[in-house]
Parts: sequence; C-alpha cells; structure tokens
Amino acid sequence: MKSPLFLQGGLAAALHKKIASQKPSSVFIFADRRALPSTGLTADATWLPSETKKTAAQVEALQRQMVRAGVDRQSLLVAVGGGLTTDIGGFAAATFQRGIPWISVPTTLLGMADAAIGGKTAINLPEGKNLVGAFHFPIATLADIRTLRTLPEREWSSGLGEVLKSGLLGATGVLKTLATAPKSSLRRSGKTTFQLAQQSARYKCKIVRQDPTEQGERKLLNLGHTFGHALETAAGPKKLRHGEAVGLGILCALRCSVEHGLADPTWAQEIRRILQRLGLPTQFPGTFPSKARLQSLLLRDKKTRQGRLNLILPVKPGLCLQVEGVQAKEVVGILADEVK
Ligand SMILES: NC(=O)c1ccc[n+]([C@@H]2O[C@H](COP(=O)([O-])OP(=O)(O)OC[C@H]3O[C@@H](n4cnc5c(N)ncnc54)[C@H](O)[C@@H]3O)[C@@H](O)[C@H]2O)c1
Repeated sequence: MKSPLFLQGGLAAALHKKIASQKPSSVFIFADRRALPSTGLTADATWLPSETKKTAAQVEALQRQMVRAGVDRQSLLVAVGGGLTTDIGGFAAATFQRGIPWISVPTTLLGMADAAIGGKTAINLPEGKNLVGAFHFPIATLADIRTLRTLPEREWSSGLGEVLKSGLLGATGVLKTLATAPKSSLRRSGKTTFQLAQQSARYKCKIVRQDPTEQGERKLLNLGHTFGHALETAAGPKKLRHGEAVGLGILCALRCSVEHGLADPTWAQEIRRILQRLGLPTQFPGTFPSKARLQSLLLRDKKTRQGRLNLILPVKPGLCLQVEGVQAKEVVGILADEVK
C-alpha cells in the first residue's frame, strides 16, 4: 500500500497525472456535492452524504450510473469527499464487476488522517455501522490540504478526534501538537494541519502494511471504536459525528484502563482536557441509553468473539493493549460513569 500524497494545492493536476500513469479505459468521478467546489474537479456523479444514506440502495444507484456511463473492468473510479464518500465509493469499486481500481481523494481532515487510507470500504445496515464491506485498497490517495478551507467547524473537531487516536497509539509528535499548538492553527488548512494529517496517515499506513486485513496489530486502530460506535448508534442519526463518538470512546477506554490499574488517572485527565481543547464533547448528547441497550450495541462490534469483547486499552502515550474476552456487562457501567 502506497502512502498518501499530501499536497498544498494543485489537486487537479496531480490527479490527472496519476490517472494518465494508469492508462484506464475511462474514469468515473464520484463526489460529495458539498466538497466538490473546494477541489477544482468536475464529477460524473454527486451526492449529499449522510450516515443514513451509506446503504446498499445508494451503492446500487451509483453502480447503475456507472453502467450507463460505460464503466468497464479497465475503468478507474475516483471517490472525492469525506469518509462517507470514500467508504461508499470504495465499496462500489470493490463490488463493480467483481472489483475495479479506485483512487481516494479525501476532503475532510478525518478522511486525510484516517478514513481514505487502509482499504476498508463499507456500508451500514439498520442494525449497525459498517457491517457490510470489503478490503479494497485504493491505488493512490491524494490529499490536498487546501480542500479543507470550506470544511465546517464541527467537521474539523471530528477529524481531530481521529488524529488524537493516532497520537495515543503512537503517531510521532501528534499528542504534543494537539496539546500545545495555538487552537486557531488546528482549524486552518496550514502547516500544522498538514503535519498532523500526514503524521496520522503515515502511522496508519505503517500498521496497515504490517497487517492489511486486521488479523492482529491493525485491531489497535479501533481504539475508541467499540464504545464509540455503540454510543453513536445509541445517540441516533446526526447526533454524534464519527470523530466525536471516537473521542467519547477513547474516554471510556481510558477509564477502563485506569480502573484496571493500567493507566495513570492524571494522564486520563490530560486527555480529557485535550478533547475539550479540540472542541470535542466529553458527555453523551441527550438522554443516556439503558444498560441493556448499550450492552447489545457493544456486542455488535465486529471484533466480538462468542459474545466477548476485544477492547483496545491505552496504557501510556504510544502504548495500547488489546484485551480479549471481556464481558460486555463488566464494562457497560463504565460508559455511564464516564460520559453520561
Ligand atoms: N474506512 C475507514 O477506515 C474509516 C475510518 C474512519 C471513519 N470511516 C467512516 O468515515 C465516515 C465519516 O467520515 P467524515 O467525518 O469525513 O464525514 P463525511 O464524509 O460525512 O463528511 C463530513 C461533512 O463534511 C462535508 N464535507 C466534506 N468535505 C468537505 C469540504 N472540503 N468542504 C465542505 N464540506 C465538506 C460533507 O458533505 C459532510 O457533510 C463514517 O461513515 C465512518 O464510518 C471510515
């Protein structure tokens, strides 16, 4: 898997060069309508992404457009947008005529730091997020930081949630920058963002190269996700952005670590302060779900084996542990204690 190419302008030219080197029979560009103006590209199909539309029906609609446009097995799909667009576009590429090549062009910080790389593509089911998907690696990822200039405030925070995750896992320099850089520089398409996104992406690439299909070490990248996905589904559509849910999930994972004597409580407090600094929530929005509901949502996690959870627990900066065989009922109370 190639490292993403990070740019500060010149996206269209870089993309055309990459496409020309591949000599595809045709190119089909699928883009997020809100992101498109920031890219200087034109698209063959657009959509307005939302988590409720990350569905098989949406993939079918896109693939029918691809057929009508004459896309064949030697064609190339380019997905331009945030994680929703690269997840669904990548899944359409993975399954169209049993798989055609694709390029990801992330336009959110979350996409650049995480979602657009690593080859995981997916759609949701009503029962939960990303339950259907495929590993299908993009042949290239082009991330132009300038496309972030139109990104809404809340999406910056959400992206910083995934960046924080990389910092906790071991992306060099990230935690220090998040804790000390001027707050305004963390929401601008400048040098600080360029470095944070690139450091997170490089860290992810390193792990994915070692374990492309998540048999072992790659599971660490799910830090905050077991709790986060459960809280995101419990909150309901549009209540929590993905990175916000991951931030809450990280707090719950840290609390587990502290309760088991694995992590220092002052460090957990420090991470909570960083989340607040990044404009991320530290409490669940709205009415807190019942323990029974949360327990059943926790068990839908894809890492669950025979009704037991596999948790990623932070110990100190750059060190997280995988703990297998945890009973959901043992940890469900922690969610209420930590983020209610
Ligand atoms: N495949 C993976 O490894 C992976 C990893 C993490 C997250 N994800 C997935 O990614 C999704 C979240 O991605 P996201 O946070 O990027 O959300 P998103 O794709 O919904 O984008 C967030 C919002 O920003 C808008 N937007 C995007 N780029 C813009 C731009 N440049 N200017 C203005 N508006 C813009 C979008 O229209 C949307 O409203 C979730 O579905 C999550 O499951 C996947």
